[in-house]
Amino acid sequence: MTPIIVNQHGLINELAALATYSDAPSPAVTRIHFTPVELKARDYIRRLMREAGLDLREDAVGNIFGRWKGANPDLPAIATGSHIDAIPNSGRYDGTVGVLGGIEALRALKVSGFVSQRSLEVIMFTAEEPTRFGIGCLGSRALAGSLSPDRLRSLHDSEGCDFDTVRKAAGYTAPLHTVQLTKGFYHAFVELHIEQGAVLEREGRETGVVTAIAAPATLRLTLHGDGGHAGTVLMPQRRDAMAAAAEIILAVEQAARHSTSLDAVATVGLCQVYPGAVNSIPSRVLMEIDIRDIDLASRDMMVSYITMSIAHTCEARSLLYELLTLNADKPCYSGGAIVTGLVEIAQKRGYSYQTMVSRAYHDTLFMSEICPTSMIFVRSQNGYSHRPEEFTASEDIVRGVTVLAEILARLAS
Ligand code: HGY
Ligand code: MN
Ligand code: MN
Repeated sequence: MTPIIVNQHGLINELAALATYSDAPSPAVTRIHFTPVELKARDYIRRLMREAGLDLREDAVGNIFGRWKGANPDLPAIATGSHIDAIPNSGRYDGTVGVLGGIEALRALKVSGFVSQRSLEVIMFTAEEPTRFGIGCLGSRALAGSLSPDRLRSLHDSEGCDFDTVRKAAGYTAPLHTVQLTKGFYHAFVELHIEQGAVLEREGRETGVVTAIAAPATLRLTLHGDGGHAGTVLMPQRRDAMAAAAEIILAVEQAARHSTSLDAVATVGLCQVYPGAVNSIPSRVLMEIDIRDIDLASRDMMVSYITMSIAHTCEARSLLYELLTLNADKPCYSGGAIVTGLVEIAQKRGYSYQTMVSRAYHDTLFMSEICPTSMIFVRSQNGYSHRPEEFTASEDIVRGVTVLAEILARLAS
C-alpha cells in the first residue's frame, strides 16, 4: 500500500461546484431538502460516487449509499458520510465536507492500493437540517429506526405538503418500512464535519476527535390570543399573542443562562406572527424552541422550566396554546476504540488535535444507535457556521480527510 494522498485540488473544486447548487447568491448557500436545487445536487453526488467506482443504493427517504465492496462483503461494513442539505443563507462546508470528503477518502484508499476486508460505504443522509419538515436528521433517524413510518407520514412542510407526497414526487416510492437498518448492519460509522464552533481555533488545534454529541430537544409552540385593530382595542382588553411570545422568548433565554451547565443552550430561531400587519394586534404566534446540553438532566431541566413558563404566561394573559415536542433526543458517546484510533492517527501524522464534545447535532447522533461511532472535526474560521462567512481552510480539510481515510482503513482491515 502506498501512502494515502488526498487530492486537495479536486476536492476543493468539488466543494465549490456543489456550492453552486443553491437558492441563494454566493457565498451564501440555501439548499432545502427535496427542492429542485437539492435534487440537482443529488445528481452531482451520484455522479461523483459512480466515477469513484462505488455501487449506489438509495432508500425510501432519499438516503444515498455509495459502497466499495470489500474482500469479505458479508462482514458488516464500515460507513462514513454526512449531509448536503443546507439551511437558508448558510455556508458551503456544513455537511458537504463529510460527503465529498468521504468519497475522496475512498478514492485515496483505492489509489493507495489498499485492499479492504470489510466493505466501505459513504452515506449522503437525507434532510439532516430541520428546515423543511421540522425535525433534524430525518434520514439517519429513519435509518436507525427512531423515526417510524407513521411519524414520517405525519410530517408536513410550511406549505402543508406532506413528507410522503414530497418524497414520492422526488422519485422515492419504496415503502417506508424498508428504510430501517438493524443494529450491527454496520461495524462502525465515522463522520467528518466542520466544528461549527471556535474551540479548535481558540486552542490552536488542527483536528478534533469527538467524544460526545449534545442532546437536542425541539418544541413547537402555538399561542392563540385575540386580534383586532391596533388603534381601537385598548390595552386592558387585549390578549396579544406577540407580547406573550416576547415574555416566553426571554424565559427560554433565562432557562439556559441560569443553568449551571456550560453546555446549556436554548434558542428561539423561528417565530411567525399572524396576521403580521403593523396595525393589527397579533392573534396567533408560532415559534420553535431549540434546547440542548451534553448533560441530559440539565437539558430536561431547561425543558421543564420553559414548559412551566409557557403555562404561567398563558394563564396570566388568558391565552390558549399548543405545545408539541418535535424531538427530545439523548446525547451519544463515541466508541472508545474509534476515539483511541483517531488519536493515534493524529499523533502519528503529527497533527495537533484535541478530544472534544459536539454541541451541534449530526447524523452520527442516530448512527450511534446502531453501531459504534465517532467524528472528526476540522476548524471553522472564527467559529462561523450556518452563515455565508462559514469557512474551513483547504489544508484543514485535507488533514481531516487523511485521518478519515486512515481510520476507515484500520476499521475495515
Ligand atoms: O443544528 C444542528 O446542530 C445541525 O447543524 N443541524
Ligand atoms: Mn447544520
Ligand atoms: Mn451539519
